[in-house]
Amino acid sequence: MRKTGRTVTQSVAGENVLAFVPHALPPRNPPFDVTGSRASLLARAEHALARLEVAGEMVPSLDWFIYAFVRKEAVVSSQIEGTQATLEDLLHFEAEEDGKAVDDVREVCNYLTAVGYARGQLRRPKGLPLSMRLLHEAHRRLMQGVRGAAKQPGEVRRSQNWIGGTRPANAVFVPPPPNELPALLGNLEKFLHAQNGLHPLVRIGLVHVQFETIHPYLDGNGRIGRLLITLLLEHWKLLSAPLLYLSLYFKRQRAEYYRLLGEVRRSGDWEGWMDYFLEGVATIADEAVIAARDIHALVSADREKLLGAKDASVTAIRLLDELPSHPVISIPRVVTLLDTTRPTAGKAVEVLEKLGIVAETTGKRRDRTFAYRAYLEKLRVGTELEET
Ligand SMILES: Nc1ncnc2c1ncn2[C@@H]1O[C@H](COP(=O)(O)OP(=O)(O)O)[C@@H](O)[C@H]1O
Ligand SMILES: [Mg+2]
Repeated sequence: MRKTGRTVTQSVAGENVLAFVPHALPPRNPPFDVTGSRASLLARAEHALARLEVAGEMVPSLDWFIYAFVRKEAVVSSQIEGTQATLEDLLHFEAEEDGKAVDDVREVCNYLTAVGYARGQLRRPKGLPLSMRLLHEAHRRLMQGVRGAAKQPGEVRRSQNWIGGTRPANAVFVPPPPNELPALLGNLEKFLHAQNGLHPLVRIGLVHVQFETIHPYLDGNGRIGRLLITLLLEHWKLLSAPLLYLSLYFKRQRAEYYRLLGEVRRSGDWEGWMDYFLEGVATIADEAVIAARDIHALVSADREKLLGAKDASVTAIRLLDELPSHPVISIPRVVTLLDTTRPTAGKAVEVLEKLGIVAETTGKRRDRTFAYRAYLEKLRVGTELEET
């Protein structure tokens, strides 16, 4: 049992509640334990990430996997707290030239914008550094124009919030009061830049819990906290591209994810959380390696199939090469993508359709859309909506 914070009494709507204010990282008294089985778990997770890195390097186009895996992460991270959009919804929306997104799809698109923005800033010499400001700007993009618009996009909350329950007094957890936030976020930012001898993967695990415990925003804390994992993996050079869709692991075991976050606060069990987190990194990295190989094998096989077909055209081959990063397409889209004419585009789609590589997707959409079915099948795993 370790003390990870203090409680302060807050009066909310006439009721007294105990809000939790976490101590600054790293864990102390006792210091975080990285020995024994935890050291092996860490080594296993690190090794799995290295294999994922190699899998990304071995394919002709790393962009395919960045495209696919970032979208998978975006969809699943959004689903964890109830967004009802699927991978297909997102891809269909992106395939349409002037489609209007429903709120749930918009949320996922915003997530993509937020990740793209944050990665871009970190890479640019004059971009924002790794900082709370960067996260706030990502949050602003995440919450733009959707349900969250009334929830102060890009701003640290100015009121007391709570997790679970109908009011703070019966909540599962009451995060720190707003006046504590500047100091808490300042400390977290300092920890991001501190040399403290902890392995970067361990630091990422610690940072995620701390961020969720601080719960700095009115909404979107889960998504920004998970986006931070993605950013740090890349920024701290554990992966050179955002290929780890860790949210899938949290989604699969959501109750355990929430329980362990809470356990850090309740009993100071940072190690229990870390074991779960490291196990997740290793599991998802292993799965992503298999998915990458499967997808690569599929595309290669389809290419062979196409090259062997008598009506294979240069345009059809070029279209096939585009499919992994545009798995749902419409004819006008193909025209733009391949910079060709409508008849040529239509013919190329027809060739791929005849070979069973793409299939028309049913729907009430104005432009017919075609999907790279087998590819989507592989990518979809885990992104289905839960039965309600
Ligand atoms: N007991 C807990 N302690 C700390 N954080 C928690 C707890 N339970 C859930 N969370 C985190 O809070 C997130 C939900 O907060 P919210 O602001 O609604 O985020 P989002 O809107 O992005 O889902 C969860 O996804 C999880 O990361
Ligand atoms: Mg929410």
